[in-house]
Amino acid sequence: METPTATLNNGVQMPMLGFGVWKIDDPQWCEQCVVDALAAGYRLIDTAAIYGNEEAVGRGIARSEVPREEIFVATKLWLQDAGYDSTLRAFDVSLKKLGLDYLDLYLIHQPYRDVWGSWSAMQKLYADGRTRAIGLSNFYPDRVEDLLLNFEVPPAVDQLELHPYFQRPDVLAYLNSNKIALQAWGPLGQGRVGMLKDDRLAGIALKYHRTTAQIVLRWHYQRGVLSIPKSSNPQRIIQNYNIWDFSLSDSDMAKIAALDRGEGKTDHRAPETVRRLNGMTLG
Ligand code: A2P
Repeated sequence: METPTATLNNGVQMPMLGFGVWKIDDPQWCEQCVVDALAAGYRLIDTAAIYGNEEAVGRGIARSEVPREEIFVATKLWLQDAGYDSTLRAFDVSLKKLGLDYLDLYLIHQPYRDVWGSWSAMQKLYADGRTRAIGLSNFYPDRVEDLLLNFEVPPAVDQLELHPYFQRPDVLAYLNSNKIALQAWGPLGQGRVGMLKDDRLAGIALKYHRTTAQIVLRWHYQRGVLSIPKSSNPQRIIQNYNIWDFSLSDSDMAKIAALDRGEGKTDHRAPETVRRLNGMTLG
């Protein structure tokens, strides 16, 4: 079935479930995962300059039988390219690596350095029709508000860490009220917090004859949150897409809401995060 879409604040339709390729480093494997994901039904691929796999993603898209215009391709600007001129240059580099002539979504990856210069360039790329939408990643409401107040084009999307242990209801409400779509990274808890083994999620999974990953992805969808699960395993790539033929009851949605611990992996306001991310450079 076709992936349900969200209508962005500029009218563009964006698939609510996509395929994330962070940490799929081996180029051949990444290319194959993209081919597999598109064959499984995904129509959104999310990469970033800093992932170092844009070329592999581009080859996967080119190899797939799905026409380019049916695929929603997103990539992100890395910190060392912040600023007006360097953002325009970095966009061209990403597009070339992807082998595409336009992008569907271009995001500022981190809320540091010359964000204003970058957003001015993003507005230009959008106005020139080089990308169908522009947005942010890891921007908390205060940083988003600063852009909303001072620029003409509002971000269409904010991509943030979000999963059942870190639900951010206040951030979701803020973005909803400003017509900015929230797209979750690490929607499965990055396999790191043991969330997929949570007994309460496992109980719900048993009831619906689904895996805990499918329950979590369905929960995101029913909550109106877009998500980009990553997997480099062919079976799990297929499994994660198959969440359209069941629906969680209100009481099960409420049970999952009760799992929130209010704590994620990365606090973008913490000085050590700012130092760590500023220290990462494109290869
Ligand atoms: P793998 O790539 O071996 O499938 P997130 O999307 O939250 O970043 O989570 C990605 C992590 O979750 C990866 O370690 C991935 O491992 C694992 N993962 C993805 N899908 C599933 C699944 N359906 N069941 C169990 N683990 C999964």
